[in-house]
Amino acid sequence: MSLPDQAEAVAAGVDRFPPRRLMTREHAERLSREILELKRELNAIILAHNYQVPEIQDVADFVGDSLGLSQQAARTGADVIVFCGVHFMAETAKILNPNKLVVLPDKDAGCSLEESCPADKLRELQKTNPNYHTIAYINCSAEVKALSDVICTSGNAVKIVEAAPKDNDLLFVPDENLGAWVMEQTGRPMTLWRGNCYAHVEFRRESLLRLRESFPEAKVVVHPESLREVRDLADAVCSTEKMITYCKTSAAKQFVIVTESGIIHRMQKECPGKQFICAPTFDVMRMPTDNCRCSECRFMKLNTLEKLRDCMKRLAPRIELPEDILQRARLPIERMLEISAR
Ligand code: 13P
Ligand code: SF4
Repeated sequence: MSLPDQAEAVAAGVDRFPPRRLMTREHAERLSREILELKRELNAIILAHNYQVPEIQDVADFVGDSLGLSQQAARTGADVIVFCGVHFMAETAKILNPNKLVVLPDKDAGCSLEESCPADKLRELQKTNPNYHTIAYINCSAEVKALSDVICTSGNAVKIVEAAPKDNDLLFVPDENLGAWVMEQTGRPMTLWRGNCYAHVEFRRESLLRLRESFPEAKVVVHPESLREVRDLADAVCSTEKMITYCKTSAAKQFVIVTESGIIHRMQKECPGKQFICAPTFDVMRMPTDNCRCSECRFMKLNTLEKLRDCMKRLAPRIELPEDILQRARLPIERMLEISAR
């Protein structure tokens, strides 16, 4: 079987993603109060990814990257986990907490990487080489996790690959860009699944070079889901959480941020006095009139404060998974958490 063409896999149409409505501060405050009240009643924890809208980040108990969120999910004593991120993240929380209720604001909050890697296609590829050790980026379905030997996130991918058995052939799914970056870092060859993040591959070298002319002192901080031509311009390549740490600890005052723009909210809160510039997601050489397009993940942005309140009121949509998938997917996630903690 050949590796699938990523272009076939990214199927999400723009029509599925209506423009976001802005809300007044009073409305946001009223909703936030309701959410905090529901949280107390339910003994719930609200986990939010760094790309969520500011008003969701502000009511969350924990905001972080995929690794931090799965670590929080693994240790929570709450009865209900309210997951503000995308579907695979909420699934991971359920796999780690099969007896807890896990709800999410919008069940359609998917991920182009997850879509690119159907479990049956992965199973076919695995059959072609019994010596494969499958390392799955956490941005994949529970079924794909269940077929994998170990999971990784962008925050620990290098460590996970370094810990992989030396005698095996490594198969890395589903992000070819993260996989290529990890190969560069570790020197370990891997077979890469042909998937990518539709949002991160929109960043291009030419537009970044042009932006750097206006901000010559700025450090360029890039997520490893980006293309190599973009990663090559970076001062730092790292997960969203490590990006925040980098900006906090760096002596620089200006940063060009090459990832989803939701992260700027935390950066501004946690790094007062520093300036963050969102990298544009188009090529200014070819589209010189459109000069203000920050990157947004349309899946992450499906979540709103209203939907968050509603999912807590209705306890739906909730994550349900077959027992065998829950059990089989848990092992590679636990392996990741154990290697990460070393
Ligand atoms: P992080 O784990 O770095 O936050 O990445 C998650 C993600 O979906 C990036 O697009
Ligand atoms: Fe998936 Fe990309 Fe959105 Fe992250 S930014 S959730 S990788 S589509």
